[in-house]
Amino acid sequence: MSTDRATFGSKLGVILATVGCAVGLGSIWRFPYMVGENGGAAFLLVFIICTVLLGLPIMITEFFIGRHSRSNAAGSFKKLAPHTKWPLIGYNGVLAAFLILGFYAVVSGWTLEYVWQAMSGNLSGKSAADFTTDFQAFSSSVFRPILWTAVFIGITHYIIAAGVEKGIERASKIMMPALFLILLVLCIRSVTLPGVKEGLTFLFRPDFGKITSSVILSAMGQTFFSLSIGMGCLITYASYFGKDTNLQTTAVQVTVLNTLVALLAGIMVFPAVFSFGIEPTAGPELVFITLPNIFEQLPFGSAWSFIFFILLALAALTSTISLHEVATAYVHEEYQVPRKFAAWVVSIGVFIIGVFASLSFGVLKDFTIGGLTIFNALDFLTAKIMMPLGGMMICVFVGLRIDKKILKEELTNHGTIPFYFFHTYAFFIKYLAPLAIGLIFINELGIIAY
Ligand code: PHE
Repeated sequence: MSTDRATFGSKLGVILATVGCAVGLGSIWRFPYMVGENGGAAFLLVFIICTVLLGLPIMITEFFIGRHSRSNAAGSFKKLAPHTKWPLIGYNGVLAAFLILGFYAVVSGWTLEYVWQAMSGNLSGKSAADFTTDFQAFSSSVFRPILWTAVFIGITHYIIAAGVEKGIERASKIMMPALFLILLVLCIRSVTLPGVKEGLTFLFRPDFGKITSSVILSAMGQTFFSLSIGMGCLITYASYFGKDTNLQTTAVQVTVLNTLVALLAGIMVFPAVFSFGIEPTAGPELVFITLPNIFEQLPFGSAWSFIFFILLALAALTSTISLHEVATAYVHEEYQVPRKFAAWVVSIGVFIIGVFASLSFGVLKDFTIGGLTIFNALDFLTAKIMMPLGGMMICVFVGLRIDKKILKEELTNHGTIPFYFFHTYAFFIKYLAPLAIGLIFINELGIIAY
């Protein structure tokens, strides 16, 4: 293994980095709009079921693969199953990282535009309708969103190439709790708005009739996307875990925190959506047109939105770093090119994807693949196909290829910590998870649309 791969400073750093990888736009931007597009509470219910039954066990399994093999997303499979086709799971993950980063960087760029807007005082004194039209004018324009995408990829690139993870680690120790706090404040503001009843009903009272096969697929996709599972990120990160890191509790902590952030985001968004007459089905723009309305209602609104979008950008950054790292580590190690060169290859490639993803909100709006814009197609392909497929194969791999004794040894740190439901867990990943994911796929087969 090469020595210039990223390493984490401390035990807390490990947890924070993993939380940073998971918590990001997935919970704060994607989750609310998925809830909105998929009928509200019914989606939330399936999402939570998927998180507990699929998310947690798969995360533990990825931690196992990473720490046991101490290798990158593809290398780990090569180590554990040499001369087989299993590393394909890793290649699928690397490709997914690349594609996700392509559209994720666009939305990350949007957060920077809002930081800019807040600084220049442009977010105050507008009506709800203004926020919507302004956002649409911005996102559909050619130059600005691409510029911000480039800036965001540039920052990510700099961190990956210069290897300043330590700084990020230190920064996230302050920023992550700060983000959490500000989310809480915004939730409190939101639930004192007139639309609170409607908003919370939409979010929490399920209409079981709304649980369709496409809602189930979407909820499963959200679980994978939001927890960063099924594509090797967590394998890569776990390869840096210490031998005394408790893999089980780390997985539980990351999952709980991530779900909590998503719930807070939901509580923050939906009362406001109904108060300001915004469509819950607005799609990727939902958070960006809802939040400025809440800030408007607060004293020193611009200051709030400035702080919020800076923190959101940072949460996005800790995720883009992890995505970039998966692809860079792979190119660097697999093609034996210098790490800096690998980082450039990834950044340039991602930027090209980002340009198309960004333009698909404007000039390329009518260019569709299977009825989806480029942005939505990238999202669909990664979150709803590649990641669940990767997760399924990870379970099949460990279920078929790994001796249960070895699995248990690693997950209990050689017997020093208990694993109470080990047999249930082992049964889950060997049979239940692959079967469930397979069924959800089959159920949805042929319906390539939201
Ligand atoms: N989970 C991240 C988020 O919610 C996105 C992500 C997906 C990051 C896959 C890394 C890998 O924002």
